[in-house]
Amino acid sequence: MALLKTNKVIYCLGNISPSLGVLSTRNSSWWGGVQMGPPDPILGVSEAFKRDTNPKKMNLGVGAYRDDEGKPFVLSCVRKAEAIITAKQMDKEYLGIGGLAEFSKSCAQLAFGADNEALNRSITVQTISGTGSLRIGANFLARFHGGPRDVYLPKPSWGNHTPIFRDGGMQLKAYRYYDPSSCGFDFKGALDDISKIPEHSVIMLHACAHNPTGVDPKPEQWKEISDIVKKRNLLVFFDMAYQGFASGDIDRDAWAVRYFIEQGHNILLSQSFAKNMGLYGERVGGFTVVCNDTEEAKRVESQLKILIRPIYSNPPMNGARIAATILNTPDLRSLWLEEVHGMANRIIKMREQLAAGLKNEGSSHNWQHVIDQIGMFCFTGLKPEQVERLTKEFSVYMTKDGRISMAGVTSGNVGYLAHGIHAVTK
Ligand SMILES: Cc1ncc(COP(=O)(O)O)c(C=O)c1O
Repeated sequence: MALLKTNKVIYCLGNISPSLGVLSTRNSSWWGGVQMGPPDPILGVSEAFKRDTNPKKMNLGVGAYRDDEGKPFVLSCVRKAEAIITAKQMDKEYLGIGGLAEFSKSCAQLAFGADNEALNRSITVQTISGTGSLRIGANFLARFHGGPRDVYLPKPSWGNHTPIFRDGGMQLKAYRYYDPSSCGFDFKGALDDISKIPEHSVIMLHACAHNPTGVDPKPEQWKEISDIVKKRNLLVFFDMAYQGFASGDIDRDAWAVRYFIEQGHNILLSQSFAKNMGLYGERVGGFTVVCNDTEEAKRVESQLKILIRPIYSNPPMNGARIAATILNTPDLRSLWLEEVHGMANRIIKMREQLAAGLKNEGSSHNWQHVIDQIGMFCFTGLKPEQVERLTKEFSVYMTKDGRISMAGVTSGNVGYLAHGIHAVTK
């Protein structure tokens, strides 16, 4: 047994407990050397928001949809699916390691289109929402991808991508994506950088509604990206956390994923039902690997199960049952499509009202990007010091990079937001 003494902390390397009296002083601790970590850059914003007593405060940090009253929104199709599930009095046995089979099947069909031939040579497992899917993907890559350990992320990318891939055993690299001068897509920069990525590396692409910028490539640009990625022989990992949220149309939002498959890319795909079904806390997602053939898919499936088993054994069933019921009950599916469309449209309307509000305030800046950007987020172009003022003086909470969740903007507060943004940018 070894005792290591540092200043005031005793690290004990062995199997003894302070309660046994070996470490008798009260201020000795197993965890005395643990440093205080920084708050999560996104969830930390919500915590600061909660402490604010200003009745006009706005939380535009977290990407969760709100209705036009600013209230969390549970979709009617979800309530109806829950009623069907409750009436069936189903058991609560463990799911298989790969989750609920009917969920996984419909999840892949939703992404690929119901009669895509690639469905027969791919494997989808139910995951703990999009985050869990990405993490299983990272672990799978670290264990089985024969190429370099490098994953190329767009610059910038969703903040959690970096720790997910890093903790999953991969190394992070980046390619240019966002052009601050136009608040739009840096197409040339992206192509330049992608054309220099070493062969067999992994490239992460946001399928639609890029987070945090709200900037997506156009179909013609996706085609060129696909060509270059093919030339460089890169492995594509699509993250699709917002299918339906970009345009209001689930097929249109899956266009890039389907195009890449059609072009012969055997992609990896992460899906989340947090946003498009409002199932945030239910943690429903899918991870798919497109393979060369059915036999390869079976082998990949066996290894995914071996990966998942010691992490969480098998995924939770409730959310997957809700999603599967919606996707497989024609009436509920149509209702869902209408509701997704409604959520996307409300966001588009708020973009227009925010840009109009800024003009009314007398802003001389060009706010066209607020309208042009797509999906839940708007990358405003505000500088960190302007964000700080907006929070301090107007109680408008957002991430330091100037990203606002448009889903938190309502007819009631869009004018206040425009006023605040104008005040800190004039
Ligand atoms: C780009 C992107 N990927 C994945 C996710 C995963 O979210 P969840 O784990 O809630 O499904 C998010 C959520 O904000 C996201 O923006």
